Amino acid sequence: MIASEFKRRRRELMRIMGPGSIAILPTSPLQVRNRDVHYHYRPDSDFFYLTGFPEPEAVAVLIPGRKQAEYILFNRERDPKMEQWDGPRAGQEGACDNYDADDSFPIGDIDDILPRMLEQTDRVFYAMGCSPDLDKRLLEWINQIRCESRSGGQGPMEIIALDHYLHEMRLYKSRSEIKVMRQAAKISAKAHKRVMKHCRAGAWEYQLEAEFLAECGRLGTREQAYTPIVGGGGNACVLHYIDNRDTLNDGDMLLIDAGCELECYASDITRTYPVNGVFTEPQRQLYELVLAAQEAAIAKVKPGNHWNDPHMAAVRTMTRGLVKLGILKGSVPKLVREEKYKKFYPHRTGHWIGMDVHDVGDYKVDGTWRQLEPGMVLTIEPGLYIPSGTKGVAKKWWNIGIRIEDDVLVTKDGCDLLTKDTPKTVVELETLMAS
Ligand code: GLY
Ligand code: MN
Ligand code: MN
Repeated sequence: MIASEFKRRRRELMRIMGPGSIAILPTSPLQVRNRDVHYHYRPDSDFFYLTGFPEPEAVAVLIPGRKQAEYILFNRERDPKMEQWDGPRAGQEGACDNYDADDSFPIGDIDDILPRMLEQTDRVFYAMGCSPDLDKRLLEWINQIRCESRSGGQGPMEIIALDHYLHEMRLYKSRSEIKVMRQAAKISAKAHKRVMKHCRAGAWEYQLEAEFLAECGRLGTREQAYTPIVGGGGNACVLHYIDNRDTLNDGDMLLIDAGCELECYASDITRTYPVNGVFTEPQRQLYELVLAAQEAAIAKVKPGNHWNDPHMAAVRTMTRGLVKLGILKGSVPKLVREEKYKKFYPHRTGHWIGMDVHDVGDYKVDGTWRQLEPGMVLTIEPGLYIPSGTKGVAKKWWNIGIRIEDDVLVTKDGCDLLTKDTPKTVVELETLMAS
């Protein structure tokens, strides 16, 4: 992401905050996996959105209109001994020179310095509940300033939910964000294709996961937006199946939900196809139904439509199809009204996607579904799940879980499928798997 983009975001947020305000944002802590082993570090999305600063133990502060410095970064000091173990740190000089901070202080000095900044302001923009440690300290600092009020200072009287404003900004993707998301989608599409080519009876689910990860790495990122879901047969009916530890059986279908992360931007793609590369008739019928539901939903992604319109289109198509196949019985409008489809399609049709795979942004505004607008990106992912033993459903439909998921950008006059390079029709899938 270009440096000017972070600057533009900070400027926009400071414009919204207005003078007399301060925003305080911590990044994520390093997470221990077990004893001395840590998870690979991923900064907090809100913090990174405004700073592009990749190190842990940092707090960003924005004070619009402050003469000495509007953007202050508290971050780790240089430490040659620690850097020998964990790699280089930007330090205070690097924070200013490489990350555009107007000023930078050691994170260890925050208790001495930040209260002095706070007491000059009336309003604090802060996301309560995200960092229990900083929540506590912020309240202590404010109390400390109030105790000192006899000597003239008053400090902030208001704490405003920063996340609300920031998440509105993050919901509308800029040109450079879309460029990165398109690239992430392209990498994931290629990785899905590689999995399709390696899929065969007898392979282990985690071996296909490994093919996906390897291709993402080969193409430029080792990060994943979430843990891949790779499930054959009945495992595909477990929505959050991440064990990926079984072998694949001839005659079953495989569901793979996997997407890389690139420069802290997610992609999220699901494909489902037969392990042996050829659809049986019942598999094809169910697959074509989910595909039709997805197409109906995608057709509703355009400015002016509401968030719920794609979902309802998918639900109607799915219910109509399930009645046609004899899996549901009754009148379609009544089945939709009574949500009978939920037995087979228990989740919603999508979510916002951006820096977080389930991205920020309200789905309702003043109690009604939000209108879609250009620059928003969402997933469209209808699914149909019929585990073995499902009562009232003929055996030929059992053991099949199907989800088809793409990432969709709302454009000026419709939408653009960022993930369109991923094979999806029966013919495309069978052809690729046969090659
Ligand atoms: N991969 C998570 C989701 O599809 O929402
Ligand atoms: Mn998704
Ligand atoms: Mn997904």
